[in-house]
Amino acid sequence: MPQWRQGLTKSLHQTRSMPESRYFQLATVDGSGVPYCRTVVFRGITDNNQLVVISDTRSEKYNQLGQNPHSQVCWYFSKTREQYRFSCTATIITLGQDADLVTQHWNKLSDAGKKQFLWGEPGTPRNDGSALQVEGDFNEVPTHFCVIMLTIDSVDYLNLRGNPQSREWHQKDGNGNWVSQSLIP
Ligand SMILES: Cc1cc2nc3c(=O)[nH]c(=O)nc-3n(C[C@H](O)[C@H](O)[C@H](O)COP(=O)(O)O)c2cc1C
Repeated sequence: MPQWRQGLTKSLHQTRSMPESRYFQLATVDGSGVPYCRTVVFRGITDNNQLVVISDTRSEKYNQLGQNPHSQVCWYFSKTREQYRFSCTATIITLGQDADLVTQHWNKLSDAGKKQFLWGEPGTPRNDGSALQVEGDFNEVPTHFCVIMLTIDSVDYLNLRGNPQSREWHQKDGNGNWVSQSLIP
């Protein structure tokens, strides 16, 4: 297991009672290089070091990642005062591509979580102030529900605890092995 991943496992354990530690910021760029950033929920990390996020193919981030799969995750653990910046390459998995994986993530959602995918087209005007209507069935995975797999290419880790603070850079060498380097913070 790469050194940074051992650290992340520890950070997640130490902050397990804080739901906000499961949110991170995901930055993308569109085809013109314009940046966008938003908060998403961490849904897990795979054996091959992919961060898992669930989302909607009707969202802007889906279009942006289609134009440029390079993205960055910025994740701050306030309790342990650690920041991880993951440079990633995104792959988006839809129902048609991997029904088992997508269904598995859909089934993990609460009804309230599922509802958010059934209110209509995200980001479109909501003019009449009436309650949003759920369209669709909770037992059926909507075709716009998707899983974003963020393959971690490099990691910039900063720990504010201690004087001096510590910073470490992690990337893969030519043989695909993770190597680490301490940096001046
Ligand atoms: C705490 C929090 C968690 C969120 N989690 C997700 C998530 O897991 N997936 C997602 O697509 N959007 C999530 N959102 C909404 C996004 O931040 C964003 O508003 C939405 O996805 C539209 O973004 P886009 O137009 O850039 O695609 C979350 C927002 C907040 C505040």
